[in-house]
Amino acid sequence: MSERKRFMLLTGASRGIGHATVKLFQEHGWKIFTVSRQPFSPECMWPDAKDSHIQADLSDLGGLEQLVETLRQRLPQGELHALVNNAGISPKGEGGKRLGVLDTDEYTWVNVLRVNLVSTALLSRYLFPELKKARGSIVNVTSIAGSRVHPFAGVAYAASKAGLAALTREQAHEFAPQGVRVNAIAPGEIDTSILSPDTNKIVENQIPMHRLGTPHEVAQAIYYLCSEQSSYINGSEIHINGGQHV
Ligand SMILES: NC(=O)c1ccc[n+]([C@@H]2O[C@H](COP(=O)([O-])OP(=O)(O)OC[C@H]3O[C@@H](n4cnc5c(N)ncnc54)[C@H](OP(=O)(O)O)[C@@H]3O)[C@@H](O)[C@H]2O)c1
Repeated sequence: MSERKRFMLLTGASRGIGHATVKLFQEHGWKIFTVSRQPFSPECMWPDAKDSHIQADLSDLGGLEQLVETLRQRLPQGELHALVNNAGISPKGEGGKRLGVLDTDEYTWVNVLRVNLVSTALLSRYLFPELKKARGSIVNVTSIAGSRVHPFAGVAYAASKAGLAALTREQAHEFAPQGVRVNAIAPGEIDTSILSPDTNKIVENQIPMHRLGTPHEVAQAIYYLCSEQSSYINGSEIHINGGQHV
């Protein structure tokens, strides 16, 4: 007997962790809708990739309802089985310099919080009926920088990820009674374009496993949290960092 098709909205799928997540979920027969600012990434190609993509800028909070409406029209049963909030930005100063409190201007604060935090809360709010109907899962992609000072991640990014961990807790408390589980994954140093050139120093000195993580390893944890295998896990934040946090 064939399984019923499951549907996911994944933000930030044009490269990195999002790209690997699309690939893995597809292998498991899911239908994935993606969101990013680019119209479509030729590097992240799969059958029906163009048709499944919704071009949107998550910093434009007023545009999110339109994005959700576009998605709704493409969900045949009005069911969304997973919302993965993966899109994120980590602005740097000149030469890749870390932006501390004294370096971070108002625009950077507001823009980072819009993309990394507020858009995720609003997407879960607008898509809650569809998630509830499917008894779906939300996975928020936080960061090791949300719980400790990081040598390259700036203050606005760190605060946004700490906020996202708190949002995960609040959503887990509020949504689980209605059948929607909410968890987070907190990557450490994963081999993507978001990394700083000096990450190799962290790998040598701070990661017990002495290597970067791969986007596929992160995707596997996201898949687990959206599957029946994690049916009693709610409000957790899974560290994916080779032991960098110990
Ligand atoms: N890589 C790591 O080591 C690491 C560590 C900790 C946490 N994380 C987190 O993991 C997530 C994915 O990271 P990654 O390394 O895969 O990042 P990445 O390679 O830089 O990809 C970021 C994705 O987000 C999208 N995006 C950025 N701004 C957007 C906006 N305003 N609206 C819509 N989409 C937007 C980008 O697409 P467009 O440019 O087309 O918009 C892209 O698809 C992020 O939340 C990041 O904070 C990563």
